[in-house]
Amino acid sequence: MAILEVKDLKKAFGSRQAVNGASFSVREGEIFGLLGPNGAGKSTTLSLVCGLLKANAGKILIDGWDIAKDGVKAKNLIGIVPQEPALYPMLSAKANLRFWGTINGLNSDELEKAVNDVLKVVGLEDRAEGKISKFSGGMKRRLNIAAGLIHNPRLLIMDEPTVGIDPQSRNHILETVKNLRNRDITVIYTSHYVEEVEYLCDRVAIMDNGQIISEGTLSELLEQGSEYQELTIKLNSFSENIQSSIQTLPGVEKTFSLDEKLKIITSNAEKILPMAFETIVGNGGIVSEIKIHKPNLESLFLKLTGKALRN
Ligand SMILES: Nc1ncnc2c1ncn2[C@@H]1O[C@H](COP(=O)(O)OP(=O)(O)OP(=O)(O)O)[C@@H](O)[C@H]1O
Ligand SMILES: [Mg+2]
Repeated sequence: MAILEVKDLKKAFGSRQAVNGASFSVREGEIFGLLGPNGAGKSTTLSLVCGLLKANAGKILIDGWDIAKDGVKAKNLIGIVPQEPALYPMLSAKANLRFWGTINGLNSDELEKAVNDVLKVVGLEDRAEGKISKFSGGMKRRLNIAAGLIHNPRLLIMDEPTVGIDPQSRNHILETVKNLRNRDITVIYTSHYVEEVEYLCDRVAIMDNGQIISEGTLSELLEQGSEYQELTIKLNSFSENIQSSIQTLPGVEKTFSLDEKLKIITSNAEKILPMAFETIVGNGGIVSEIKIHKPNLESLFLKLTGKALRN
């Protein structure tokens, strides 16, 4: 049974069509990934689903309740973890959670139990009395998740919960999300990190230009992109020269750089590898690591749109 049904959703800001006929459905109990590049329309879609924005057209049903007609009932089922943490810096973790609990209609009997419960879920029990202004970025993000869970929602909507935080906090958040399965909460997880979506999600929708361009389980999606491989070359010093030369090699679909790594999407990694190596050495680069990956969501996205998820 679908806990969320989105049909032909449209939303424009002035002349910009942020969401342009998006349709997808999320099944009860799954972790559903919404993957897309910057500006794809992910946050706008989620704001529409949460009832924070009003759609120009289309339908949103949450457990059968139409957000446009039965907004209160529909919204009660949803917990939100926004892209920017919404916390009061001068209040303690507990006080913030009490605030969000009260806003979400918990009475004083339920409140303390719920606050302690969600602090435990995100592993911040020992910082319960600490002021938010003293929290690290990762801890704020974790508390933000706790706030989204405070009223025990059936559907938790998470908008890029790991952007801009350290790897340790990121892993902590990924584990927290994975463990939400044990609490029978359905999760929509938005990201432009392919690895996170591949690690967490049962099903994935890929969004670009306000539309869902593909939807399915990971293996269903990967089947569609199976002719591409991704070659990752770690360099001691990255140069744009190297990238632009490799981009012109025959059989290279797309290159992009990330940290000190050059990623090459190609349909023939074995053939490209020696040529890429020669190009790098010829430009004075030193290779410290090479990996060939089987097709992943990144290569599928490239195939479907002709562009990389991250530039
Ligand atoms: N309040 C707004 N007013 C005007 N334009 C907006 C507004 N919100 C979003 N947009 C535009 O709508 C498009 C979709 O934005 P949205 O924030 O939904 O993308 P996103 O997929 O969440 O991107 P990101 O990965 O960067 O968070 C963008 O072109 C954006 O500039
Ligand atoms: Mg966004």
